[in-house]
Amino acid sequence: MKKILILTNWKLNGTKKKIKKLIKKYKNIIDKIKNIKIIIAPPLIYLDYTKKKINKINIKLAAQNIDLHLSGAYTGETSIMMLKDIGIKYVIIGHSERRIYHNEKNNIVEKKFNLVNNNGLIPILCIGENYAEYQNNQTKKICIKQIKFILKKTKTKLLKKLIIAYEPIWAIGTNKSPEPREIQKISKYIKSYIYKKHKELYNKTIIQYGGSVNINNFHEIIKQPDVDGALIGNASLNGKNFISMIKQIR
Ligand code: PGA
Repeated sequence: MKKILILTNWKLNGTKKKIKKLIKKYKNIIDKIKNIKIIIAPPLIYLDYTKKKINKINIKLAAQNIDLHLSGAYTGETSIMMLKDIGIKYVIIGHSERRIYHNEKNNIVEKKFNLVNNNGLIPILCIGENYAEYQNNQTKKICIKQIKFILKKTKTKLLKKLIIAYEPIWAIGTNKSPEPREIQKISKYIKSYIYKKHKELYNKTIIQYGGSVNINNFHEIIKQPDVDGALIGNASLNGKNFISMIKQIR
């Protein structure tokens, strides 16, 4: 049975009270289902609090972003050193909301990805096409272009795992998503590209799907042979629904 990697991206949502409640719900599911691994990405300001609440529960944490600098006069930023200091293992890189609202182009995404990798943490790379590109059959081309740009500067030997979240931009927060067989096709294509170009990443590559994953489509999506997990935004914020969704794995 394959292991499913779930990343819950809470984005700019939550309070201490809400986080405490959600962790309780998440704990229930972790105890019951053995073949999943859950990583939570809370807002940066709640990372340490969430870590304390998780305590001995087998859940890992990811940061939603980092700055390119390690320290210095960069008001409002958080560095990889600070994440290391509080024991965080994963960082989401290249999420389309950062690409769109913070103007993070491929060159910034590449620098952040490699900064995370070179400092011993695990980057989770988000890639995906916009709607016009989807309609014009450009998905494969766009995804490979984004991956290629990053991996050309990556010390792949340092990568503990290559985690890629395939997230069509038009599917994020819209209640629309590609058909599961389309998700399978692109996941398979990405894997074969990586295995062809980087044999050292064979068996180290994880492809997640993200974009309007919900209780109705979750099962069909993660059933696809080359889909190794899901990146879940909105549907991870309602504890009860999240539990019912994850229970479908059994
Ligand atoms: P969504 O978000 O599940 O709300 O569409 C996905 C994401 O964060 O990428």
